[in-house]
Amino acid sequence: MEKCRFHEVKVSAPSKVILFGEHAVVYGMTAVAASLDLRTRMRIKPHKSRILVNFPDVGLKESWSPEQLKTLFQHKPNTEILDVNYVYLDLIHNFLKTESSDLRMASVICFLYLYSLIMDEVGIVPMEILVESEIPLGAGLGSSAALSVCLSAGLIGVLHQVQGYEKSIFEYTSSSIQKEVCGFAFLSEKILHGTPSGIDNSISTYGGMCRFEKGNLEPVRLERNLRILLINTNTFRNTKDLVERVGEKRVKYPDIVKPILESIHAISEQFLTSIQEYNQDLNEKKFYKILEDLMDTNQSLLTGLGVSHPTLDDVCRTLKKLGIVGKLTGAGGGGFALAVLPPSISGKTVLVAKDLLETKGYTCYQADIGVNGYVIEVVK
Ligand code: MEV
Repeated sequence: MEKCRFHEVKVSAPSKVILFGEHAVVYGMTAVAASLDLRTRMRIKPHKSRILVNFPDVGLKESWSPEQLKTLFQHKPNTEILDVNYVYLDLIHNFLKTESSDLRMASVICFLYLYSLIMDEVGIVPMEILVESEIPLGAGLGSSAALSVCLSAGLIGVLHQVQGYEKSIFEYTSSSIQKEVCGFAFLSEKILHGTPSGIDNSISTYGGMCRFEKGNLEPVRLERNLRILLINTNTFRNTKDLVERVGEKRVKYPDIVKPILESIHAISEQFLTSIQEYNQDLNEKKFYKILEDLMDTNQSLLTGLGVSHPTLDDVCRTLKKLGIVGKLTGAGGGGFALAVLPPSISGKTVLVAKDLLETKGYTCYQADIGVNGYVIEVVK
């Protein structure tokens, strides 16, 4: 293959649900999350002369010549250091003539940042990137992490082809390649969310169900299927603001907020113990009773942190009247609620719940959890 030529790359990455532990996980405590079969899909094709990004979901199309990018990329930081370089980030903002608060442009900012670092060794390769997503944006299901993982894996896919790399990302699922994908995606998440825990990009990279603590991901074995219902409150919120809000409260009222976060941590740990027991011989009825208690208490604690929302409270109340327990999932402040459906709940009750919630203006989804992480292929 001649220099700077590559075949089209197709990559997809899943969204995620946090079952327990949101916000506490930011402070090194345990959270439990699972991948969700709503995916972001990206195609990267060669382009004859320009670098073009097309994100129809947010109505964005931008393109640059290699010369324009060369000038910007002169200032890029060292690839070894995967921490956000704010001087360089400001230069990208200036180059795009955008403010850091412009969320629509956030994906383009991450693209330019990752492109300059990942493609460093081979220079500027003209390409066209198209991104489409089944994941509702900004709703707490990790849409930005799925995009970050697609960008990271997709660009590494182009790099390996251009370099003629033998153990490429396409043929070789090594833990070092997965770690690299996850690392660049984490950098992109930091650009987007300030101080994320890394749970979203990790789940989107590796898939499955996992325990996450202090940046470490541990797979959780789940022998029996968990049926879940997801409810989008259709209230937009910003993860960064919510994480900051909890952070400020934690500094202002440490004696109140730290015990709340520790209780959330204990809920995640209790869930993991119960899952193990359920995998062995814990009776189904007992398991679901524990699960409901944990979900209900976790929701109350999150309300105490100030990250629930009238719509989330309404969803949980509506579900409770039908004997279903729900909690917010993700950062809160709107976004999604999650309910685990015990086998004892009839299909009819689930339908009634969905109808009731949808007449109130919410959107319900049923999707598989524990699916594969990123999947990448070359289109020849
Ligand atoms: C966001 O999906 C989950 C939070 O815990 C933030 C994070 O872990 O980065 C609120």
